[in-house]
Amino acid sequence: MNRQGAQLALCLVVIYLLESISAGVPLNRYETLLKQQSEPQDELLGLYDGKDKVVKLNVNNFNETVLEQNRGSLVEFYNTYCGHCRRFAPVYKKLAEQLHPWQDVVIVSAIDCAAEENNGICRTYEVMSYPTLRYLGPSFQPTATQYGVKLETQNPDELRSLLAGLVSVENQTANNIHWPNVAPVTESDSAGNLFEDLQSVQEQIALIFEPENSTLAIETAMFLLNWPAVEVRRINDATIAAKFKIDSKQHQLALLDRRGAIQIHTPANQTSIAYAQAIESALRALNMTPRPQKQLQQQQQLPSAPIGRNREVSEIISEVHRNKHLIYQADLEQAIRTILHNEVSKQNEIGGEPLVALQRFLTVLERYNPLGTNGRQMVSKLREFVVQFNQKLSGQQFEQELRRLVSKLGQIYSTTNYVGCTGSSPHLRGFTCSLWTLFHYLSVQSAGNEEAQDPLEVLQAMHGYVRNFFGCTDCSNHFQEMAARRKIWSVASKDEAVLWLWAAHNEVNQRLAGDATEDPQFPKIQFPSANSCAQCRRATANASKDSLELNWNKDAVLSFLKNIHNPQFISRYGVPREQLQHEALVKERQKRQISSVFSDMDVRMGMFLYAFCIFMMVLAFKLFAFKGGYRKKPYGHDLLGKV
Ligand SMILES: Cc1cc2nc3c(=O)[nH]c(=O)nc-3n(C[C@H](O)[C@H](O)[C@H](O)COP(=O)(O)OP(=O)(O)OC[C@H]3O[C@@H](n4cnc5c(N)ncnc54)[C@H](O)[C@@H]3O)c2cc1C
Ligand SMILES: *[C@@H]1O[C@H](CO)[C@@H](O)[C@H](O)[C@H]1NC(C)=O
Ligand SMILES: *[C@@H]1O[C@H](CO)[C@@H](O)[C@H](O)[C@H]1NC(C)=O
Ligand SMILES: *[C@@H]1O[C@H](CO)[C@@H](O)[C@H](O)[C@H]1NC(C)=O
Ligand SMILES: *[C@@H]1O[C@H](CO)[C@@H](O)[C@H](O)[C@H]1NC(C)=O
Ligand SMILES: *[C@@H]1O[C@H](CO)[C@@H](O)[C@H](O)[C@H]1NC(C)=O
Repeated sequence: MNRQGAQLALCLVVIYLLESISAGVPLNRYETLLKQQSEPQDELLGLYDGKDKVVKLNVNNFNETVLEQNRGSLVEFYNTYCGHCRRFAPVYKKLAEQLHPWQDVVIVSAIDCAAEENNGICRTYEVMSYPTLRYLGPSFQPTATQYGVKLETQNPDELRSLLAGLVSVENQTANNIHWPNVAPVTESDSAGNLFEDLQSVQEQIALIFEPENSTLAIETAMFLLNWPAVEVRRINDATIAAKFKIDSKQHQLALLDRRGAIQIHTPANQTSIAYAQAIESALRALNMTPRPQKQLQQQQQLPSAPIGRNREVSEIISEVHRNKHLIYQADLEQAIRTILHNEVSKQNEIGGEPLVALQRFLTVLERYNPLGTNGRQMVSKLREFVVQFNQKLSGQQFEQELRRLVSKLGQIYSTTNYVGCTGSSPHLRGFTCSLWTLFHYLSVQSAGNEEAQDPLEVLQAMHGYVRNFFGCTDCSNHFQEMAARRKIWSVASKDEAVLWLWAAHNEVNQRLAGDATEDPQFPKIQFPSANSCAQCRRATANASKDSLELNWNKDAVLSFLKNIHNPQFISRYGVPREQLQHEALVKERQKRQISSVFSDMDVRMGMFLYAFCIFMMVLAFKLFAFKGGYRKKPYGHDLLGKV
């Protein structure tokens, strides 16, 4: 017994070593990486961090920060993976910086709807496109029909003006001493009575002529919330302005003091920023100062990249660079996970066209599901659940059923991070990359399935998904436009569908080449590169640069795509939970592993060792009557035999 135990242990060690050599990243370190990346609140994943002035919202602080406050909130609902949100983030950071002095009356905040934990909030606020900006006023409470005022612009100057306009129509007086006085100066007001209700610290009144439909004075008042010595008042009428020596044709403002003296100032231009600057310097000249600004959200010390994370990410990336045409199991799984657990779950209501689209998508996913046994069961059950509904289904019901299935079936996903879609920085690549990968994979599986009759099954599922669920709104719009232009519904065969998707993806690659969302380590190329597939490109002397499709050998492209998406060649690099894998794939992989590991050893010796180990393990299993191994379910997947 003892000797057998020792032999078994030795075998396990040998097998473990083989595994870790061939997997590239030692498995124990991989586990650490997985743990780090699956932390529910990964500060590195959102678009905002401790260095900017955007108030970071999440499920834990949302209500206490924005509901029933005595000030308003500007909230951005975004998805980290949405390219447009990424491009907008620096603009929003600047706006938050600029509007920092407004914080006693309105704060600038953001919530990441791509974080699964925030599904419920994004559902409540019926976020239909990303990014969405909403203003939630003081005492705000969401109801079924009221979830804030949507601001339909992303221009920072317009946003500033809209916010000032919203602030100016709120009824806020007693609750918030900082609220600006929005009442215009009237004809009956005089230099004497304007100070009547003011506190003694307020030694100056700034009078600003505000042209029709402008928010100049309110904005200026907001910029000066921190200056206790001054109250800003708006004047809407040119004759009243003249009474205070303001020429409404010039951009002028008046500073009035308690003795009735008027000082006229001419700001640099007609913006509230220039007006506030002019008033501030006048006040400083009178030896007045602002109160110190309080910190809005205690500056969280940004957890610097978890120790070792960078190194492991770069190990993954160099592995991916070494094997340019591998498709990774990890990415397929991550795509499915995000689709189900985030994108669909955070919908408020799924009815009509979106419901049909979801049913179609789940049908295709069930048919060509790359997940392991549990994952295949889950998707089948989920599809059965969703097709019962013919009117509507709420995202919450979907999420509950999904969670129920996950807790019933156990481990579904074998990884919690991307591999082929890992970006060189945390905000690059990821989900959108894996979504392309998944749909290419599905289109190739469909092409290899003789039973599938409908050449459009995958394209239709993808189109419906992208149109109704994909949380990258500008991607979705572009894609729908492209689908119509490229006549997606005229695709006549399954092979053509594979090529349609390939060509559409290349069009997107071309448009995004050089974009801010491009990962410098993964430049946008016309795929596949000449290095990956020389025969895919025809060397034509006169092919112009922009006639992309002229110089492709489509037959070669098609077989290339079919090859790389062949389930047998899907790489399991970085997938530690072997038992979840498709058994046939695991076997295939073991074969490949053995051949690669033993290539520089005596192959026969190696095979013998391996066989011996397996023999010993079987023996050990018998002897110790091991329980709890996975059930072998015969799985006659006819796709797997094909190339
Ligand atoms: C439907 C859709 C529409 C999108 N529209 C936009 C948009 O309008 N604006 C925007 O900013 N972002 C858009 N994106 C995101 C963008 O396309 C990329 O996903 C993102 O920039 C990440 O790029 P990536 O370098 O990881 O490679 P991706 O372009 O995501 O590609 C993923 C992987 O697929 C392989 N691949 C590349 N090209 C092809 C091809 N032609 N055929 C087969 N395989 C290929 C490569 O191995 C690549 O690494 C869209 C994404 C999707 C899914
Ligand atoms: C937050 O507020 C909403 C709406 O009032 C409520 O439904 C929800 O339960 C609250 N969440 C928490 C965590 O208090
Ligand atoms: C402000 O209060 C008045 C009366 O109290 C009410 O008619 C008006 O609708 C309120 N305005 C807002 C924006 O709540
Ligand atoms: C102000 O807005 C109103 C309503 O939108 C519009 O009718 C009016 O012409 C605007 N005035 C100016 C000076 O732009
Ligand atoms: C207006 O003046 C301010 C302050 O001098 C300056 O920062 C801003 O760029 C100017 N804006 C325009 C539109 O000229
Ligand atoms: C060059 O391009 C033109 C038009 O695109 C085509 O008609 C011609 O046959 C091409 N010539 C060669 C040598 O491929």
